[in-house]
Amino acid sequence: MAKLIDGKQISKEIKDELKELVAKKKEEGMEATLAVIQVGNDPASSVYVGNKKKACEYIGIRSLAYELPEETTQEELVELVEKLNQDDTVHGILVQLPLPKHMCEDDIIKAIAPEKDVDGFHPQSVGALSIGQKGFVSCTPAGVIQLLKRSGIEIEGKECVVLGRSNIVGKPMALLLLRENGTVTVCHSKTKDLKEVTKRADILIVAVGRPKMVTADYVKEGAVVIDVGIHRMENQKLCGDVDFDSVEPVASYITPVPGGVGPMTIAMLMNNCVEAANMK
Ligand code: GUN
Repeated sequence: MAKLIDGKQISKEIKDELKELVAKKKEEGMEATLAVIQVGNDPASSVYVGNKKKACEYIGIRSLAYELPEETTQEELVELVEKLNQDDTVHGILVQLPLPKHMCEDDIIKAIAPEKDVDGFHPQSVGALSIGQKGFVSCTPAGVIQLLKRSGIEIEGKECVVLGRSNIVGKPMALLLLRENGTVTVCHSKTKDLKEVTKRADILIVAVGRPKMVTADYVKEGAVVIDVGIHRMENQKLCGDVDFDSVEPVASYITPVPGGVGPMTIAMLMNNCVEAANMK
């Protein structure tokens, strides 16, 4: 029987710590502010943006919502980002992805000032992470590190295997585990003998984007298994990249879906906003 890592509880602890910090800063006259830009009205994006606004409200961060029509041009969006870059009362800027097809996401991300890049997606933020310099870190992998640390799971010296190599999760996840002195392997769809590699893991992070792909035969007895995936099944229930019922009896710790990694992403976004404001 694995212990459940309760992301909902841990994210609440983090948000409550931030709430206290923000209240203290407010007494000193500082109001942390996040600008959230959504282009078009993709329903999933609207849910994510709504959750981010709610988290801001809970913590006491001021949030500015920019809801732009689908037809907005790239130039107009860049203009807005540049205006917010210049605005000293705005500390964090988040452009919700995906953007409409006529826009280049890389160009938009590059337009955000690195000191306001609370998503940690700017090439400067990613570069800083890779060479151990200060900068914002992508929220989901940062949240996974917090889940491990706050559950008392040591990373140093452990065999850490990351399944998935996306720019937002897999790659920064590997760099963060390395920063914590883990021994890190990244594997992906072209990896030979995938199960042999994942079975080496003391800590297995799964961010592969395929529902219930990882079953017990991918996992070493006693491993810590962190599931970054989230999918809606035909019966409308949510599931992860890990087949929970298969893996849970083998693992020592496991994250549920929902209620594992998901809530941590927003908590770490809030953390980045508070840090951005404190840097001022
Ligand atoms: N779309 C899905 N997840 C994210 C995220 O973490 N940040 C942004 N900006 N867009 C997203």
